[in-house]
Amino acid sequence: MPTTIRRALLFMPGDDRKKIEKAAAMGVDSIIMDLEDGVALNHKQAARESIHSALREVDFGRSERLVRLNPVSLGALCRTDFEATIAAHPDGYVLPKVERAEDVREVDAWLTTAERAYGWPLGGVGLIALVETALGVVNLREIASAAPRLQALAFGAEDLAGDMGAVRTQEGWEGFYARSAVVTHAKAFGLQALDTPFIDVKADETLLVAEAERAMQMGYTGKLCIHPRQVNAVQQVFTPTAAQIDRARRLIAEHDSHQAAGTGVFTFEGKMVDMPMVRAAQSLLDRARAAGIRV
Ligand code: COA
Ligand code: MG
Repeated sequence: MPTTIRRALLFMPGDDRKKIEKAAAMGVDSIIMDLEDGVALNHKQAARESIHSALREVDFGRSERLVRLNPVSLGALCRTDFEATIAAHPDGYVLPKVERAEDVREVDAWLTTAERAYGWPLGGVGLIALVETALGVVNLREIASAAPRLQALAFGAEDLAGDMGAVRTQEGWEGFYARSAVVTHAKAFGLQALDTPFIDVKADETLLVAEAERAMQMGYTGKLCIHPRQVNAVQQVFTPTAAQIDRARRLIAEHDSHQAAGTGVFTFEGKMVDMPMVRAAQSLLDRARAAGIRV
């Protein structure tokens, strides 16, 4: 089953039906209805019911329907979130504060049982692991390879800073090791990599775009969002431009003709090109295709 494109993933509190409906009408790649930290403890049950009925009633168009559970380590809270929402068949679950492979495997096992019980395709409901604690970063390798239904790793800078006693800054150097480690492990295990949300909802859009571009340059394939205003800008950053696509195609064509003539390395627009640049051009075309652009 091919993994769906996730350039922008818009969060909203699961108990806010109005925000769910607003997001569903936006054409965002993924919608994450939250049961964790965006929902007050005394509203968890209302949020579970609201998500269940939204999954049944709202037309989400082309948007993927995801639910964020409470951390697996909290036991009953997480299990109750799952039990209350699975019958409505979300496309996937987002697991926060993942620290061990077992956190992923536990929900994987619940899903396998549910898929058998409902007669759904096995492995069809996806999982995304949010890595946002020091222990999660240290255990990235086992987390990234925990289960075949795991489709993406996401980085959470705010929780990580809280966990580590670090101070969040605009430049984000305090989280740089983790941000690099998440994308590197995702790529090593064939997963999507999703960058941390940009929480300054009132900031100038250029700051959001710069942060998203840095993530894209690092190899991230998408970014978590918390406000509708962020969605278009972020989706654009993770969609190759016509000029970039044209350049990639010309580079690959040049490479092919040089290969046919028996040359492995050549210059293109004044710079040396060999296999790594060809692979980068191919991966840009892959991103374009995933975004529905014919290349
Ligand atoms: N999804 C869908 N719609 C949203 C939204 C979201 N995440 N955030 C805001 N909106 C809607 C508002 O309902 C409002 O709609 P309206 O114009 O039809 O009334 C419109 O967008 C403008 O919202 P605004 O007034 O700028 O924001 P706010 O002050 O109402 O809310 C937040 C600010 C941060 C509380 C809100 O953006 C939010 O809930 N974000 C998600 C938080 C979350 O899920 N956190 C957990 C994961 S990190
Ligand atoms: Mg969090």
